[in-house]
Amino acid sequence: MTTNTDSKVDNESQTAFSLQVDDKGIGWITIDVPGETQNTVKAEFVDEFDRIFKQVESDNAIKALIIISGKKDGFVAGADISMLQNLTSKEQVEELAKVGHKVFNQLESLSLPVVAAINGACLGAGLELSLSCSYRICTSASSTKLGLPEVQLGLLPGGGGTQRLPRLVGIANSLDLMLTGKQLNGKRAKKLGLVNEVVANSNLMKAAAKAALDLVNKKKIVVSRLKPEVSLGGLLSAKELQKLALETTSFGRKIIFDKALETVNKKTRGNYPSPAKIIKCVQVGMEEGYEAGLETEAKLFGELVMSEEASQLMNIFFASTDLKKDTFVSDGIKSQPIDRVGVLGGGLMGAGIAFVTADKAGKKVRIKDQNEKGVNHALKYCWEIYRNKIKRKHMTVNDAGQRFAAITGTTSYQGFKRCELVIEAVFESLELKQQMLKDIESVSEGNAIFASNTSSIPITQIAEAAKDPSKVIGLHYFSPVDKMPLLEIVITDKTSEEVIATCVEFGKAQGKTVIVVKDGTGFYTSRILAPFVNEAGHMLAEGVAIDRLDKALKDAGFPVGPITLLDEVGIDVGTKIAPILAESFGDRMLPPKLFSKLEQDNRKGKKNKRGFYKYAGSAKKKGPREVDQSIYTLLGVSPNNNMSGDAIAERCLLQMINEAVLCLQEGILNSPRDGDIGAIFGLGFPPFLGGPFRYVDSQGAASIVKRMNELEKQFGERFKPAQRLVDMAASNKTFY
Ligand SMILES: NC(=O)c1ccc[n+]([C@@H]2O[C@H](COP(=O)([O-])OP(=O)(O)OC[C@H]3O[C@@H](n4cnc5c(N)ncnc54)[C@H](O)[C@@H]3O)[C@@H](O)[C@H]2O)c1
Repeated sequence: MTTNTDSKVDNESQTAFSLQVDDKGIGWITIDVPGETQNTVKAEFVDEFDRIFKQVESDNAIKALIIISGKKDGFVAGADISMLQNLTSKEQVEELAKVGHKVFNQLESLSLPVVAAINGACLGAGLELSLSCSYRICTSASSTKLGLPEVQLGLLPGGGGTQRLPRLVGIANSLDLMLTGKQLNGKRAKKLGLVNEVVANSNLMKAAAKAALDLVNKKKIVVSRLKPEVSLGGLLSAKELQKLALETTSFGRKIIFDKALETVNKKTRGNYPSPAKIIKCVQVGMEEGYEAGLETEAKLFGELVMSEEASQLMNIFFASTDLKKDTFVSDGIKSQPIDRVGVLGGGLMGAGIAFVTADKAGKKVRIKDQNEKGVNHALKYCWEIYRNKIKRKHMTVNDAGQRFAAITGTTSYQGFKRCELVIEAVFESLELKQQMLKDIESVSEGNAIFASNTSSIPITQIAEAAKDPSKVIGLHYFSPVDKMPLLEIVITDKTSEEVIATCVEFGKAQGKTVIVVKDGTGFYTSRILAPFVNEAGHMLAEGVAIDRLDKALKDAGFPVGPITLLDEVGIDVGTKIAPILAESFGDRMLPPKLFSKLEQDNRKGKKNKRGFYKYAGSAKKKGPREVDQSIYTLLGVSPNNNMSGDAIAERCLLQMINEAVLCLQEGILNSPRDGDIGAIFGLGFPPFLGGPFRYVDSQGAASIVKRMNELEKQFGERFKPAQRLVDMAASNKTFY
């Protein structure tokens, strides 16, 4: 390769873009943001792009361009969103978006072919950059992911994505991508028409060079927004043609947009403004033209960046990025290597833990259950997940088989001696868990870390049976383990820092967002969930209808309502934990007395098909479940609809928030950050509210305290605001 760069680029350790021209006349633009592990698009790039464009224009030897990343495993992961945080008005953001549009338009209008050669993450602004190229090739590597995930931050693709994507892959397909933020691997991207070719990583540069030259020699033609040159007719299936037919008439498009809007409104319940704005951008672009579409995109992008919802979602993004780097231990403390993991109990949780340990963390897993049935359950559970992946073509049979082979089962302790970490997920009994601990200490000769997945028993109590309590810790996973992102690590006064460091690293390897909390009844998450669910119970006792309670909390942004949750988790589990929490924290943690009638009536919820809702009939029946009306007679309640949804949600929310503040006040939580992420990732606290602590900040502690005082007068002690809140209200302080 001959170098054809100006001096600035030659000694250019500080620039992100470099241009080298090879002897075939291909200009290779390498993006390599200095000092960072992955490329993100920054505002400063405008000047760099400008410089490169000028170089390209002034060099007649260049016949085609290839844009490639200098990072080993990533193309461009998106825009650097911290640059958005420095902007203070909609107009400023709109201006920034317009500058971006100009650059991408310039790239798109170059008179020579431009090939994007993509390996690794190609997301957000990275994908928008590649959409401005004439041709896209990506690799089949598992790290290659293409998508526009802006919606997950409450934003929209502001770099022309809402205009270029629908023109490339169709309106319905583009809306699907932009409204879900889903990321496609190479194969799926090719199928959708998002990329032109998929090749092995080792072949990327060669294939890109060939494509570039073929484009120059017109051996390849491209469908471009600017110069549509081929008809796709013959390439499409009947279903795709039907979709296309719908998209080619204004009437047909209206049907698509109306349907999309109806679906997002149902899903967001009006809590997230970005999906509707994404639809609007596409609609304007399709009906009024590309320029009008871009104009709308910049304007609505400005509105979203300045919205409270996006600001909270970006806060969550920063907090979870921060947590990824946090070791939770003092400097210099080293984690121990983990190769083999033992899991005790092959039930719902044990199986899930085994799966993520083998699949995500890549460790060997040995499962022990008291009987064959338990072992088989766990193995079947794991294989079912793989079977689904194979069915959906996310994995080959070979790959799945290889990973599954890392999980083995037994009803004895055979194979446990060499496990460096053992996680117990047996029944919720202190005695049983202590027995497990003693067994493991003896089998591993004191070498293994013993972790409990208990949801309510204090780890300190379990550790009382230990010869070496420094090796005892809580690893609290959430169900279903392979989907729920949080791991709450619970440490006692005696847990050693090495053990904490090891488990934090292990949890991250399992793909979890990890928080570390101090031991105490219910730790953090179970403790703040209890008063939230109890409050719904109190309102039910007051006569608020069950479905009304659930709807109110779903409207407020929770994924499920509190009564449905009780049915799902098990009413028996709830009634078992409540007295334990009440013993530690007083009567404020007790559910209404009439709930004891549920136990007498053998109502355990979904598991025995006797709960607040009806479970008879086909599980596949669409639509919401029906309330089992007989429960009102059982409880002696006449349901009414007098209370507003907002009032219902407020009472539950304030209970959860106040308990979260108590956890911080008592040192269970280390920081508001951990509390916010724990509530959102573990319990589904509405992300757009930012978590309990961000919510207090947004409302002001004084207004929260005032409301709690009013409710305390009405309903008693359980609404007494935490002292920390009262102090903050008095001094006008915030958590962040
Ligand atoms: N289910 C949840 O949502 C959830 C969430 C977080 C934590 N937890 C906690 O996880 C633990 C397990 O819960 P689960 O829902 O998986 O229960 P589960 O009933 O589905 O599974 C428990 C398993 O432990 C096995 N077991 C019992 N005694 C054993 C022994 N002596 N040796 C080996 N195996 C034994 C049982 O045979 C069973 O397979 C409990 O402590 C629970 O509180 C549950």
